[in-house]
Amino acid sequence: MSIFNASRLLGKTVLITGASAGIGAATAILFAKAGCNLILLARRADQLEKVAEAASAAHKSAAAQQGGQIAIVQLDVTDRAQVSALWSKVPQGLRNVDILVNNAGGAHGIDRVGDIQDKDIDTMFATNVLGLISLTQLLIKDFKARNAGHVINIGSIAGREPYVGGSVYCATKAAVHAFTSSLLREVVDTPIRVTEIQPGMVETEFSIIRYRGDKSAADKVYDGLQPLTAEDIAEEIAWAAARPPHVNIAEVFVLPANQASAMQISRGGSK
Ligand SMILES: NC(=O)c1ccc[n+]([C@@H]2O[C@H](COP(=O)([O-])OP(=O)(O)OC[C@H]3O[C@@H](n4cnc5c(N)ncnc54)[C@H](OP(=O)(O)O)[C@@H]3O)[C@@H](O)[C@H]2O)c1
Repeated sequence: MSIFNASRLLGKTVLITGASAGIGAATAILFAKAGCNLILLARRADQLEKVAEAASAAHKSAAAQQGGQIAIVQLDVTDRAQVSALWSKVPQGLRNVDILVNNAGGAHGIDRVGDIQDKDIDTMFATNVLGLISLTQLLIKDFKARNAGHVINIGSIAGREPYVGGSVYCATKAAVHAFTSSLLREVVDTPIRVTEIQPGMVETEFSIIRYRGDKSAADKVYDGLQPLTAEDIAEEIAWAAARPPHVNIAEVFVLPANQASAMQISRGGSK
């Protein structure tokens, strides 16, 4: 037995939202290495194509053994009509999803309450909360009908600990936590598993988007600190999914070694 035991993932079908970049893309490639079929969702079709190519190469690795199928679907999780029509865009053979990774999301701006733009409030709630709920609603019916399945939601340290300039983003991730915790309780009498991954600082496009494309402001977030990588979070997601069926990892709170809370960060590194 290996410590990770990725062999339990072989042949599983994984649907990942926000698979065009960052944590979602890294998760797609790691599940491909484990021999999973993939349904990859995001708005940027060109980026999804690149991730699908990398996942296809990963399918050819020794661990994947039998390869796997990949479907990409250009989809905006905030558009309920697009979410409802999802299955019409997924090949029949991939419609029995085993693992849903609700990852699409992000932060827009660092404005304080009173100065936050309506469009930022709407985008964060529509994506991080309503989009995640829409996908979960769609998949959970199927999971209940098959008495199987695993919902893995990407929360955040921001959902545990509010901070200045993060009011709306923190509120969305607190909502993700509440929704995920309710679902966990609702399916307690089934084999369906529910996991929330709560990362601290991960260096992806996240901060570039938060700072509206200002790369130098985004880089300052990680000054003097070794942040987590998208691959670090992908490992946590795949690890939770690869536990034996009777084991449910309810929450994973994962930080860089030099981050202790949202604002307590040792920028000089370790002693
Ligand atoms: N990075 C961090 O420090 C950090 C920490 C804690 C939690 N998180 C959470 O981790 C998740 C992934 O973030 P990341 O760090 O990987 O950021 P990222 O690199 O910016 O990736 C975000 C992904 O979400 C997708 N997305 C955004 N809006 C979407 C929409 N309306 N419909 C479909 N897809 C959408 C993007 O794809 P398209 O633009 O192609 O649609 C992209 O693939 C988010 O939920 C974020 O809140 C991140």
